[in-house]
Amino acid sequence: MKKLAIIGAGGHGKVVADLASLLGWESISFFDAAWKDKPSDPRRPMLGDTTAFMEKSKEFDGVLIAIGNCEYRWNEFSKINNSTSPIITLTHPNSTVSQYSKIGDGTVILAGSVVNTDAVIGKACIINVGATVDHDCILGNSVHVAPGAHISGGVTIGDASWIGVGSAIKQGVRIGKNVMVGAGAVVISDIPDNATVVGNPARTMT
Ligand SMILES: CC(C)(COP(=O)(O)OP(=O)(O)OC[C@H]1O[C@@H](n2cnc3c(N)ncnc32)[C@H](O)[C@@H]1OP(=O)(O)O)[C@@H](O)C(=O)NCCC(=O)NCCS
Repeated sequence: MKKLAIIGAGGHGKVVADLASLLGWESISFFDAAWKDKPSDPRRPMLGDTTAFMEKSKEFDGVLIAIGNCEYRWNEFSKINNSTSPIITLTHPNSTVSQYSKIGDGTVILAGSVVNTDAVIGKACIINVGATVDHDCILGNSVHVAPGAHISGGVTIGDASWIGVGSAIKQGVRIGKNVMVGAGAVVISDIPDNATVVGNPARTMT
């Protein structure tokens, strides 16, 4: 029986578990820092925190971090780098991923999303429901492209940046590290590291 560990038992964790189940993972267990306080999911057991996972890692055939927050996801990802069970990627069968794209370990590509030709996506990224990443985009590690966000061709996005739900990014724009693009923003020019931008056209939040 194929056994998967998912670190992160919130809403995103449940979506990822559902996808893993669809893709044939027969036994799925959660780990979560707040495991003592989280309501237990009757469908899947909660076995402790990330340290507990590392102690049991050889019991699993795969592991994945399923946490929406980019910084927190990357922190947990760093903790499992030496895990004896492989860090997997999951791609929903109803997404379209070019054979000429590259997808890093620990990345999940959810239903209805598109990753086009020659896009490069780093480790531990989330391409969420209905998001698109067009040709020649380069995404760093732990980037979250939220539901329905559209990234045009040739855009670069630095590590741990969060591209908000329903936003649109113009072709060729360079977005720095640890950037937050607000829900519905329209980004038409480059954004420096650590900025939060909102609106149309997107401007730094003051
Ligand atoms: C941009 C964002 C991070 C700001 O969050 P915040 O710091 O808590 O900001 P607040 O909610 O306190 O709002 C501060 C101000 O910015 C405005 N604002 C917040 N988000 C905005 C957005 N997306 N577009 C336009 N204005 C926005 C608010 O109206 C408020 O304006 P005011 O001061 O005139 O009243 C957040 O609103 C956002 O858009 N997050 C993305 C969420 C997302 O994509 N989720 C996907 C989950 S998978």
